[in-house]
Amino acid sequence: MIASLGLESQVILVTGGNRGIGAAIVNLLLELGAKVAYTYRHDYTPQMGTVAISADVTDEANMIAVAAQVEAELGPIDGVVANVGITQDNFFPKLTSADWDAVMNTNLKGVYNTLKPIIPQMYARRSGSVVCITSISGEKGNLGQTNYAASKAGTIGFTKSLALEAARYNVRANAVAPGFIETDMLKPISEKVKQKILAEIPLSRFGKPEEVAWTVAFLLSPVASSYITGTVVRVNGAHHT
Ligand SMILES: NC(=O)c1ccc[n+]([C@@H]2O[C@H](COP(=O)([O-])OP(=O)(O)OC[C@H]3O[C@@H](n4cnc5c(N)ncnc54)[C@H](O)[C@@H]3O)[C@@H](O)[C@H]2O)c1
Repeated sequence: MIASLGLESQVILVTGGNRGIGAAIVNLLLELGAKVAYTYRHDYTPQMGTVAISADVTDEANMIAVAAQVEAELGPIDGVVANVGITQDNFFPKLTSADWDAVMNTNLKGVYNTLKPIIPQMYARRSGSVVCITSISGEKGNLGQTNYAASKAGTIGFTKSLALEAARYNVRANAVAPGFIETDMLKPISEKVKQKILAEIPLSRFGKPEEVAWTVAFLLSPVASSYITGTVVRVNGAHHT
């Protein structure tokens, strides 16, 4: 028998699955045989073989509707990847209340909105795996990212607490903390700053979205990670150990 992650026919929802890390997760899960639903924003041509739903994670009612649509079209949800995240960077004296609220509402309240309608169903079925995408910034801090780092540190605290509550229902919750990964999120960073960051990374390169995706697939797997919950897995080339 060929070894498998056991994700075949599992129903998995990925938020922000149209590009970057989220798209890499969607593609890998499809290759691994999962039934994948994902959310996206704005104009976009959804991928064949998936349930793609236009939705804003900051909108609670929207995310309740997403959970209902995924269940109706694919069946009960086995795994969720809370992947959506944004940056609105500035040094703290220049950071506006709007920058603060946008990042908190998307990165932290968005996780709440995504999981709130799904977790009770997982508890009832005594099965499920949740993966929240946090960041190296949430663990070590980063210049210009007081808002983003706070939201990502908050996501770690949320995930660890959920893992403690969910364990008795056989539901697992873990976080993945990517370092600097080659996606649109790196675009606003100047070449000079990028070179400075690269010099701090022992593996001497930025990560690839696929390298995060494999870690997420591992944590979703009811076979490979069944005794792992409440952890933060770093995918950062030893940038922070
Ligand atoms: N790229 C990196 O270096 C890096 C490092 C650490 C952590 N992360 C985290 O990984 C996750 C994915 O990042 P990425 O680099 O792929 O980013 P990205 O900007 O390429 O993709 C973000 C996704 O979120 C969606 N999105 C944004 N706001 C939304 C909203 N309000 N509602 C619904 N969808 C929304 C976008 O449409 C997009 O699909 C984020 O949580 C990010 O914080 C990224």
